[in-house]
Amino acid sequence: GDVAVLVPAAGQGVRLGPGGPKALRSLRGEPLLVHAVRRLAAAPSVGCVVVAAPPGSTSDVRDLLSSISDRVDLLVVEGGASRQMSVAAALAAVPDRYDVVLVHDAARALAPPELVERVAAAVRQGHAAVIPVLPVVDTIKQVQSSGEVMATLDRSVLRAVQTPQGFLRSTLVEAHAAAVDDHTDDAGMAEKIGVRVWTVPGAESALKITRPFDLAVAELLLD
Ligand code: C5P
Repeated sequence: GDVAVLVPAAGQGVRLGPGGPKALRSLRGEPLLVHAVRRLAAAPSVGCVVVAAPPGSTSDVRDLLSSISDRVDLLVVEGGASRQMSVAAALAAVPDRYDVVLVHDAARALAPPELVERVAAAVRQGHAAVIPVLPVVDTIKQVQSSGEVMATLDRSVLRAVQTPQGFLRSTLVEAHAAAVDDHTDDAGMAEKIGVRVWTVPGAESALKITRPFDLAVAELLLD
């Protein structure tokens, strides 16, 4: 595989309720991170996975992931205080030979290998930045802090954005070098430096496991 995948997994997961770092929370008896890395390692394009682990748990995380794949190089680095810092730490550890770099949230633990391939293929076809997206099903309104509605947005032009997001390595390095404020997604940093971002169809199973409801849904998806 010619693709390296960065996995920010250092978040605390406060919205999931008490119980430690989110990536290490159990889904059917295994940590979310194990589910996520297993699916990444099953994608033929992937040659290397770099996990940004919660501070203090790098060696535990290394042990946790050691038996997942013989084919894929697994690196574990210490994550940072923000998602962006965790991604930057992982990016710095990618071996030179990888020209395509994907970024994938551990919280999207059930993202299928096909989605990884779809994103990687679009980067190889010449798109410097690629994101998987889904149509928005709800009507989305802009609301003031008081609770009053300000505007109804045109749903037809909106998309919900998932990971893995894919980049030419040089593009991701440039985007991170230029980033000042903290971004929640890497493609947003690429946009800031004028890179055109391309979309491919996302996958419903790549839902972000954020709240207890999402964990319950993920349990059902494993059937
Ligand atoms: O908090 P949020 O759900 O946006 O986190 C998205 C991803 O970023 C998660 O996989 C989380 O573990 C990761 N993260 C990180 N380092 C942080 C904060 C979040 O790697 N300091």
